[in-house]
Amino acid sequence: ELVGLEALKREAAVRAVALVESGMRVGLGTGSTAKYAIEEIGRRLAAGELTRIVGVATSEASDVLARQVGIPVEPLDPRPLDIAIDGADEIDPDLNLIKGLGGALLREKLTEVQARRFIVIADHTKLVSGLGEKAPVPIEIARFGFLSTIERLRALGLGGRLRQPGAQPYLTDNGNYIFDAALPQPCDALTLERTLKGTLGVIETGFFLGMAERAFVASMEGVQEHVR
Ligand code: A5P
Repeated sequence: ELVGLEALKREAAVRAVALVESGMRVGLGTGSTAKYAIEEIGRRLAAGELTRIVGVATSEASDVLARQVGIPVEPLDPRPLDIAIDGADEIDPDLNLIKGLGGALLREKLTEVQARRFIVIADHTKLVSGLGEKAPVPIEIARFGFLSTIERLRALGLGGRLRQPGAQPYLTDNGNYIFDAALPQPCDALTLERTLKGTLGVIETGFFLGMAERAFVASMEGVQEHVR
């Protein structure tokens, strides 16, 4: 039996998975909340409540989990996905997000931008009034010349550091590094996103702006639905 925050995260996931219908192509998120959504889709497939689901995984870890729970997984192709369900690190009142503390931001953005409906699932600790309030924004950068890229980021006024949990820098599924940038407050995320996308060596950012359609956010008072 799950307790506390974990139980809430699972509740939010179950609410989102209720939007999944048989025959849908589903973007599968990454992280400790998205994990519950993948498990719930697997459970509903096994129970015969869902059929003909195809999953597109946003990380190697979610790919492995999806196959374990019996979801057929295909690579991303140019066809739209019916729905994508994923967690987030920060959610602002307009459902703009910071994602990528789990490191999967590039595949997440590539997948979720193609979804007709992108549904966010989280517990209440992820709600902020402005992006960058609590979390850094992860920026995926090329390994080649990464120190030069980090200098370019610092020249933009960004604090923060290369993600390095051990002796070596953290490596994404795509073989890149991540710079976790502390954001000036208040932060104009849209302008910063554009600047970052024009910065040499930057591959992708953890800003997910204007993408989410709704969020299921769980707290002790139950699951609240936020619509953009
Ligand atoms: C993965 O790269 C992230 O974008 C996750 O979706 C995000 O970190 C949320 O993870 P949790 O649900 O584990 O907090």
